[in-house]
Amino acid sequence: MPNALIKRLIEQQYIEPSAEFSIAQLRSHFHENGISVDESNGKIFLKKIKSPLVPEIIESLLSTIRNEIPFTVEVLQLIESTNNYLKIEAKTAELPLISLAEHQTNGHGRRGNSWISSYGEDICCSLAWEMPSGYQLSGAESLIIALTLAGSFEKMGIEGVQVKWPNDIYVKGKKISGILLEQIYSEGRAVLILGIGINVVDHFKASNQAGFSATSIENEINLYDRNKIAALVIEDMLKTLKTISPALDNHSMARWGELDYLRGKSIAINQITLLKGKYLGIDKNGRLLLKCEGEIKLISSGHITEIHP
Ligand code: BTN
Repeated sequence: MPNALIKRLIEQQYIEPSAEFSIAQLRSHFHENGISVDESNGKIFLKKIKSPLVPEIIESLLSTIRNEIPFTVEVLQLIESTNNYLKIEAKTAELPLISLAEHQTNGHGRRGNSWISSYGEDICCSLAWEMPSGYQLSGAESLIIALTLAGSFEKMGIEGVQVKWPNDIYVKGKKISGILLEQIYSEGRAVLILGIGINVVDHFKASNQAGFSATSIENEINLYDRNKIAALVIEDMLKTLKTISPALDNHSMARWGELDYLRGKSIAINQITLLKGKYLGIDKNGRLLLKCEGEIKLISSGHITEIHP
């Protein structure tokens, strides 16, 4: 079924069944796409968002850091993906630019994995940040950002926060957030596009994000003020982006060790061949150390699965 139906529902706040789509088809289409609806008088109504994102509120919560780093926050109602959107906008926009969306129709993570979010119930946020010209991502940056995000969750009062190589945040074994770091070059500018997806409200999706067992902020600490959550995360990200470097420092290495979800686990990494071995941590360049057939291999990318004894 077309995304145009989602667009129409969000614009008009309701939708009527037609010869093409019955009310049952519409209901299941919106449900499958993470959009909560009510039915009345034969029409489908969009459920009111519990905590709508308001750019002015987010900016006012960030007034101190905004004096130091002048940035713009915008809220889009519906977009395919905030990362894809910024990859185009950032070519001409003043940076830093921060785009949040109430809904994404093609949210994704690394390796094309889909990131499922629910209308008005999560944080889908991307930040475009100008790096020194010619900057090349080393791979360590996404680990540094994951540690920053883990710190933001701890500040909110969430316990049991963990980082999973290379860019996921878990809470007591369940995924709460993911990061997608990309880079574009445009007219001599090297721009980093940092996408962050956070499960906020506890709903059907939170139980299964991209095949992993998932949780949400509301589930953990009963907080669902999305403007407050977005402001806290954006502030921490801006501070980190200001000083980000292509290697982890000693403090970050130690923090990774403390929060490491994979510590002590046997894992399999899907590369050209399937590598199996014991996870031994990371190096300063953000590479994973895998003990495999008596050798230590340095891994820069790949999909990880745990091997349960
Ligand atoms: C992952 O878990 O693999 C990363 C998920 C990243 C999702 C965010 S949501 C905002 C931004 N837009 C996207 O399409 N992806 C990122």
